[in-house]
Amino acid sequence: MQETPDVGELSPPQRTLMGPGPSPVHPRVLKAMSTPLVGHLDPSFVEIMDETQELLRYAFQTDNQWTIPVSGTGSAAMEAAIGNLVEPGDTFLAPTNGYFGDRMAEMARRAGGDVVRVGAPWGEPLDPDDVADACEEFDPDVFGFVHAETSTGAKQTNVPAITAAAHEHDALVVADTVTSLGGVELRVDDWNIDAAYSGPQKCLSCPPGASPLTLNDRAMDKVLDRDAPARSWYLDLSLLEGYWGDERAYHHTAPISNVYALREALRLVAEEGIEERWARHERVAGALKAGVEAMGLGLNPEPDYWLPSLNAVRVPDGVDDGAVIDYVLEHYDLEIASGLGDLEGDIFRIGCMGHGARPENVTLVLAALADAFDALGADVDGAAGMAAAREQLR
Ligand SMILES: Cc1ncc(COP(=O)(O)O)c(C=O)c1O
Repeated sequence: MQETPDVGELSPPQRTLMGPGPSPVHPRVLKAMSTPLVGHLDPSFVEIMDETQELLRYAFQTDNQWTIPVSGTGSAAMEAAIGNLVEPGDTFLAPTNGYFGDRMAEMARRAGGDVVRVGAPWGEPLDPDDVADACEEFDPDVFGFVHAETSTGAKQTNVPAITAAAHEHDALVVADTVTSLGGVELRVDDWNIDAAYSGPQKCLSCPPGASPLTLNDRAMDKVLDRDAPARSWYLDLSLLEGYWGDERAYHHTAPISNVYALREALRLVAEEGIEERWARHERVAGALKAGVEAMGLGLNPEPDYWLPSLNAVRVPDGVDDGAVIDYVLEHYDLEIASGLGDLEGDIFRIGCMGHGARPENVTLVLAALADAFDALGADVDGAAGMAAAREQLR
């Protein structure tokens, strides 16, 4: 017999989540999660599924019939896209300019693909000419890119030009929109993206668990015409079609409460209006950017490809990034994060996402950073930072 565990009631601290995700969850979304469960085939849930799909199409700006929440985190939606679109022996063209491009490459490799790379330094977007050259050289079957690289804070600009370059060689284009959906301009249909996946815990401000995915007919035709089934049974889109398509037959038990949450988060997007929401992210994150710059800190990416949802702030010389992160967590209950991969130790990653993208959070981040730097003996001008942010928010 094992001893009865003595575990207290759950009482996590109240953090302000301004890191790379998860972001602060809107109270309406939390409330939706605590509403009664129905069965995953209940007629009322079938209606909720339809509504969620309709709301997802709006957020993605697509008419794609095949638009669903995948059960799992963003990586599950990523693996669903790549694992179904890449057949053994296919050539997959992946970017080198960040941590999540590497993850795409790894997933394509595991799906049996031959991975080739198109390069840009970490912190820079892909150049459409380089994509065109790589397509010429490798003739890929599938090309993947990351719209909003959470590891570097760089936004992929010129998306229509890179999708056009891939389509000239008949490659399908799959976009990682985990840190852009609902926060940064994204137009799946207008930009000719064949498949896009995302996560709920970034600009949608929803707990992780049900992750957006959309595929156009061309992409779905490839999935349904595969010679061999996708290697993952759980993420096989031809099987999931039975549940999310017309049939509504059991495949696996959907994470009901996560679908409720996503539906509510997407309702908030629709109420605000997608373009207004993109503009809010740009305005509020713009104040954060102005504030850190006025404090004397640099931002990593060039202004042309600055990513409002994820601000990569350079760590000043002689400062221990971990000490700053620990300080703001301890004294302000504020979460920010360190760099990832090649940029570890060089940047702080400060998110400005969804319900977190509010002026009061910008003020908190700037005040907490100024205090932390002061306590740790770094020379920054906290007052100038606050004044610059206030100016932008007026
Ligand atoms: C750009 C990008 N892609 C994929 C992922 C993977 O998402 P998840 O951690 O929800 O599995 C993340 C997570 O941070 C991300 O930022």
